[in-house]
Parts: sequence; structure tokens; C-alpha cells
Amino acid sequence: MTDRPAALALEGIHKTFGSFVALADVSLRVEEGAFVAFLGPSGCGKTTLLRIIAGLDRQSAGQVWQQGREVSDLPPARRDFGIVFQSYALFPNLTVERNVGFGLENGPRATRLAPAQRRQRVAELLDLVGLADQARKYPAQLSGGQQQRVGLARALASSPSLLLLDEPLSALDAKVRQRLRGEIKALQRCLGLTTIMVTHDQEEALSMADQVVVMNKGRLEQVGAPRDIYRHPANAFVAGFVGTINVLAGHRTPDGHLRPGAPNGAGGTPVTVCLRPEDIQCQPLEADAPDADALAEGHVHGILQETEFLGPVLRAHVRVPALWPAALGSGIPGPEAPGSEAPGSEAPGSEAPGPQALIADLPAAQAHAFQPGRPVRVFLPAERLRCFPPEGGTGLGRGAGS
Ligand SMILES: Nc1ncnc2c1ncn2[C@@H]1O[C@H](COP(=O)(O)OP(=O)(O)OP(=O)(O)O)[C@@H](O)[C@H]1O
Ligand SMILES: [Mg+2]
Repeated sequence: MTDRPAALALEGIHKTFGSFVALADVSLRVEEGAFVAFLGPSGCGKTTLLRIIAGLDRQSAGQVWQQGREVSDLPPARRDFGIVFQSYALFPNLTVERNVGFGLENGPRATRLAPAQRRQRVAELLDLVGLADQARKYPAQLSGGQQQRVGLARALASSPSLLLLDEPLSALDAKVRQRLRGEIKALQRCLGLTTIMVTHDQEEALSMADQVVVMNKGRLEQVGAPRDIYRHPANAFVAGFVGTINVLAGHRTPDGHLRPGAPNGAGGTPVTVCLRPEDIQCQPLEADAPDADALAEGHVHGILQETEFLGPVLRAHVRVPALWPAALGSGIPGPEAPGSEAPGSEAPGSEAPGPQALIADLPAAQAHAFQPGRPVRVFLPAERLRCFPPEGGTGLGRGAGS
């Protein structure tokens, strides 16, 4: 903890709608100048949390602090923020410049400006968002991307110390979204403005934010830098939601060894084994698969079902037989101690899983070597496997934005 007060601090925020718990015990510290993304599936409470920060909704319990000042009970007008919503929420009957200057004309007394100053500030803001030549148009005469830039300029008008963005790009087409992502990020950096953006698009969160807050069912699952969230997910939910990942069922035997499938008879603890597609290595096999017994630790044979060309990578869908986790060997990182037993020895009474589908991202330059329907040798590096307490069933977990 630093001595400097956080730009925003949430302490034990709880929100219920009737008997439904929308947010449970949410605590978070946002440093000055940070770009934070609230990321999570639909209905997980992202907008509710943003509205509580803005004072548009009242928390059932907990406190909101801005720069060391408690604002928990203050109305929105007495808090210091600008906000941009998913639906552009512009006044259709006002020109672009009057939309941008609206708060400077009609807002709280402290933010109001005299007409000449207002015109100057609006001109600066329109310049900032690249709309200097659109000032006299009405919202209906603008594209979606331009309307969202007007929304951004309006949110910045009062020079707030906190910018709140609720899915600002989700109504835009992919090209415009991509461009505006870059523009918002550049603007945020250049102004050094503390920003919180709500999104359900993991690619957007990872590419724009310094800090990602992964939410699920009203709780914070993990808070961290994009790279840490992706490489070191805290649990199976985060691993599956952020990015694409192979999710496989396994269990730990009572003596601590990792084995395939659900525990059965001899007991053990179920675990979810996760592995990123880019961590799987794959080699085409010339002939039909040789005897599986000849395989080295970590290897398994499979059949290439199909491939997708994704530009820099070739995404391979590989079907591997039930014995795949027998190839896991030892040295599995995870919440429990890794086993040290020789690979391939099955715990008595365990229930082996059926054939599994794996996805592997391979260098696109090797695309010509991989033919659907042909056998492949797959290598699952033990150091890249992550084990978690199970969160749901087995299958492929795909990030929302992929
Ligand atoms: N005013 C309300 N009354 C009752 N329930 C509500 C209200 N507002 C939100 N909820 C519920 O709270 C939960 C969280 O809603 P919220 O809008 O915060 O989700 P979200 O994460 O922003 O989802 P999305 O990505 O779809 O926008 C949802 O189950 C929603 O139905
Ligand atoms: Mg929402």
C-alpha cells in the first residue's frame, strides 16, 4: 500500500435486487492513471458495479472512495467522473457541439462555463476526438463510431479525474471498433486519465487495459495485468473465459498423482486440467500411428480432424484417444503437490475418459504439412499444464471475444 490515496477504492461492495445477489463483497483499488477493464460474462454485475461507482445505483452495503474522499452516499452530480454508455445516449435534437458542451452549459454549477470559454473548450474537445469538422451536424448525420467519439468528448468536457466506459465499442463494427480501441487508449495515455471500461470482450480487455478485473456471478475472480491473467489464471473460470483453452477432466489420487477422468472407487479429488492451444506441439505422422507404448512422456497420438487458418496461426482440432492423460507424466503445477509416479500407470478403479478433442495453434508456415484425417503426434508439455479445482464439465473453453 502506498501513502497516496487510490484514485478509486471499493470496499466490501454488496448489491442485491430483491433476493438476487448482483454483487458480493467486491473490494478493489484503482491507482491514479490506470486503465482498468471489468471483464466478465453477461449478467455478472459489471454495469451494476460501474453504476455504483458513478452513484447511479446505490450499493446495499460497502463504501466507495475517490482520492481518499468517501463518496458512497453522494449523488452522481457531486462525484467526479465522466461516463460513456454503450448506446450513444446523445441528444438527437442538439448539434454535436451542443451535445459536447451540454454539461458545461447545464451541469452542476462548478462545471459550468461562460459562453466564450465553453465554445473554446468544445472546440478543443472536438479536436481531441477528431471531429472538429462535424460540430454543426446532428447525431443522426454521424456514423456509430463518430457518435461514440461525441459521447467520449462529452464525458471529458468537465475534465473529470475518472472516466467510466460501459461497453463503449460493442455497438460498432469490427473495423471501427479496432480503430477506436487504439484512439481511446492513446487518449487515455496522453491525458493520464484513470479509466474503467466495462467489456465482455476478452480481446478488448487484454489489449487496452493495464489491469483486468475478471468478474463472475457478482464476484471478482482475479485482478491482474493482462499477461498474468492470461498466463497465470487463478482458477478454471478465468482460464476458460480469458482466451481459448483446452479443458480436460482429471483427478488426483489419494496419494497425490494426477490421473485421467473422474475419481472412482479408490477415491481421489476431481481436478480440471487446462492447456493453452499455443502450448501444444503437433507433428504430422507419415505412416499410421505406431504403437502407443513407444511414446515418450508427454506425447500422445491423435487424428487431425480439421484445421482453421487464422492468419498467423493454424488452429488444429485433434482427436486424441482416451489414454491421453496417461502421457502427462509428473511435474504438473497446480494447487496440490504433483505426483512422481511413472507415466501411464493407471490408478485402480479410476474411470478413464473417452476420446477428447484438443485444439492446438501451430505456426501457419507449417500449414501445408497438416492434412485433415491424417495421424499426428501431439506433445503436451507438463510445465504448461494448469490444474484447478473443477468449475464445470469438460470440453473446450473459449474466451468471449474469440
Ligand atoms: N434494476 C435491476 N433490477 C433487478 N435486477 C437487476 C437490475 N439491474 C441488474 N439486475 C441484474 O443484476 C445482474 C447483473 O446485471 P448487470 O447489468 O450488472 O450485468 P452485466 O455484467 O453488465 O451484463 P451485460 O454484459 O449483459 O451488460 C443481472 O442478473 C441483472 O439481471
Ligand atoms: Mg452491462
